[in-house]
Amino acid sequence: MKSELIDRILYNVQSIPPFPAAVERLCELASDPESDLDEIMIAISTDDVLTSRILRAVNSSLYGPEQKITTVSEAVVMLGMQAVRNLALGVSIFSARMRKEKQDSFKREDLWRHSLAVALGAREVARFLGDANPEETFTAGLLHDLGQVVFREFFYDLYAPVLEEAAKGARPLHQLEQEAFGINHAEVGRELCKHWKIPESLTQVVADHHRDIREEHLGSREDRRVFAIQVADNLARIAQIGSDGDANVETEFLRILDTEEIPPERLHELLLVLPEEVHNAEVFFHMVGSENVEVSHEASHVGVFVEDRKEREVIRLLLLNLGYNLITAEELRKGEIKGTAIIIDATSPPDLCEWAKTQNVPMLDFAKWRTEAANQGNAGQINVVQLKDWLKSSLGR
Ligand SMILES: [Fe+2]
Ligand SMILES: [Fe+2]
Repeated sequence: MKSELIDRILYNVQSIPPFPAAVERLCELASDPESDLDEIMIAISTDDVLTSRILRAVNSSLYGPEQKITTVSEAVVMLGMQAVRNLALGVSIFSARMRKEKQDSFKREDLWRHSLAVALGAREVARFLGDANPEETFTAGLLHDLGQVVFREFFYDLYAPVLEEAAKGARPLHQLEQEAFGINHAEVGRELCKHWKIPESLTQVVADHHRDIREEHLGSREDRRVFAIQVADNLARIAQIGSDGDANVETEFLRILDTEEIPPERLHELLLVLPEEVHNAEVFFHMVGSENVEVSHEASHVGVFVEDRKEREVIRLLLLNLGYNLITAEELRKGEIKGTAIIIDATSPPDLCEWAKTQNVPMLDFAKWRTEAANQGNAGQINVVQLKDWLKSSLGR
């Protein structure tokens, strides 16, 4: 029964339209260190739609060249080959070439926006981790969840309850898919990448993006890229930029804090700039109807005591995303700061706790939420959608 289903899924992968030949060729060339500008220009010039999109993008306000750029070669020189490849892939992936989904409860725009957020976030994390070619990680980020499209397009009736279950945060989506279909979206993504003739190294990262690599050292370039995508995947969920159908974050992703390359402040910065970067990238890709970017709000002090270090960090990230400043005891002593959240833990200096008490800073009861949460019992996972809702309602937002 399951193997029959898998066969049908793989058969449907083959029925998805291939990328335009020019995009396929561009992918090949961008991954080939021997390729030159002439070959790239020829590949792009064979496709009028691609040519006009690249020219439109390079002349957009995001790049704002001083003089209008009118030729593909100027555009490639200005954007760089990898960025042109990403642009070509981006506009191709979510173009209307695939059939419209039957139901709209799970919008394609959500997945697209999530993919962009992961691409942008993963590129940044890859830079932190010393990736010599972070644009490749960007591309892998764009592609990482595309296997879902096959479930959504061809098996929606079977997939809808799976998505519903995942939204509740009971279990990770890829596990639920595995049970229902005998295959998950990372594996389907691998087949889709092969079908689209995506280079092998990127295909591998897509296939592995839910692999548990926590026990291994981040030795190979591919491992580091997988890890960068996992970090960005979780950040995108925390910031709720689009959705990949999964409400949970695995707190283990924060083991990035144990690597020396990325201090927590950089992760915070990344979380804060991500919504706007996604917004800009959407403009760049000429998408319409982008959501408003979440901006800072006025807020008063609030405290929250969180025992577990990684859970504490998830709350920090969520509060940052909600527009709170996170401050230290030292800063507190210096005076009144607006829009502040004070995170207290077992290692906090006693005067911080004392200060919070004397100022009547309301304390959110995270431990209570944790035990009552729908996903209790799932160690190492937090449903960030529910947690953010709880934070918002506790904060009167
Ligand atoms: Fe995924
Ligand atoms: Fe994802």
